[in-house]
Amino acid sequence: MNNILDIIKKKSLGEELTKAELDYAVMGFVNGEIPDYQMSSLLMAICLKGMTDKEVIDLTDIMLHSGEVLELGFDSVDKHSTGGVGDKTTIVLAPLIASLGVKIAKMSGRALGHTGGTIDKLEAISGFKTSISLEKLKNQVEDIGVAIVGQMGNLCPADKKLYALRDVTGTVASIPLIASSIMSKKLASGASKIVIDLKVGSGALMTNMEDAKELARLMVKIGQLNGKETICVLTNMDEPLGNAIGNALEVIESINTLKGNGPDDLNDLVINLGALMLSLEKEIPTEEAIEYVENALKTGAGYEKLEEMVKYQGGDIQNIPVSARKLDIKSPKAGYIKHIDALKIGELARRLGAGRLTKDDVIDPTVGFILHKKVGDKVEANENLITVYFNEKNLSLSDILDCFEFSDSEIEKPELIYEIIGKETI
Ligand code: URA
Repeated sequence: MNNILDIIKKKSLGEELTKAELDYAVMGFVNGEIPDYQMSSLLMAICLKGMTDKEVIDLTDIMLHSGEVLELGFDSVDKHSTGGVGDKTTIVLAPLIASLGVKIAKMSGRALGHTGGTIDKLEAISGFKTSISLEKLKNQVEDIGVAIVGQMGNLCPADKKLYALRDVTGTVASIPLIASSIMSKKLASGASKIVIDLKVGSGALMTNMEDAKELARLMVKIGQLNGKETICVLTNMDEPLGNAIGNALEVIESINTLKGNGPDDLNDLVINLGALMLSLEKEIPTEEAIEYVENALKTGAGYEKLEEMVKYQGGDIQNIPVSARKLDIKSPKAGYIKHIDALKIGELARRLGAGRLTKDDVIDPTVGFILHKKVGDKVEANENLITVYFNEKNLSLSDILDCFEFSDSEIEKPELIYEIIGKETI
């Protein structure tokens, strides 16, 4: 007979829990039989003592089957990002890859804390609907090959409830808990193959390579055990991705990227992740896939697919309002940019109204930042460093300048892609 106190005690001693014990705790919590304070205690014991691979695999399976598991009825590749600042990759990648014949039924999330959410970003497009039925999603993907929508159906209710508790009990930063949370949702959403952009750096959940590699190894293993090929790409999140931070500004940067005028880092990331997705789905060598992806950027095929998707989901791509109130911030000195703190910029964007701290906060899609300099760039004194788009809420100059570190000597441009885990051929 299971007992939650024995389970908490067992985990606090660092022992391995059985699947029956995990199921008892998780499903008891979902059904309201186990209160928040006992679940919090178990989560903290997991944070401190970790889990064996078997426990993580069992936990993922329990969360996956706590709700609906979608059957899309066609092969599709899912792309997931572990979250960062300025990360608009999905908005570029999904239509780009769809324009090359890969089906994408993408379910994305909303902003919380300092990281943005794809769904909030897309809602900056006037009229764009992110909440549609499963039937409509399937029809849209059959028709035009791509849809980006919010979470639908009763997918992984255990993760929803556990994540909300982890968020307020300091138990988010646990590799076993993150791996099971992400993979249960990916497996429930019906894609046949999964590419995960695992962000590493000061603006990401994983701040060092060692932890990021362990998380990647676990997620690839869980994917493979469930018969879904899974690849993790470890990428830099020490500085924001691209130049735009803020919902409407990021959609506009995505459009520019699809028209061939994107910032170098975003462009490179999209080409590399896109090529991986394409090579995975079409079973072609990555070099060949890179050529196809670059060509879809050059010809504007990806942009046309985005236009088609926006129209299908009720949006007007010509109407993406940005605040008319803006201020250019100049560099206080000459030199080279050594560091741009992604976490701080994300937090400032949230304070401007671009993100939320609680689920009920209302987002202002028109505010944010445009960076004019990135790490490694040379800057002159008084040259434009960053432009702030604001409305009611404003920031102090020192808050903004604190995000930048300068150097008198040259700084190398940072690496963007650190490692790919899960595909031996690359
Ligand atoms: N993203 C998730 O979906 N779950 C986590 O636990 C962390 C990031």
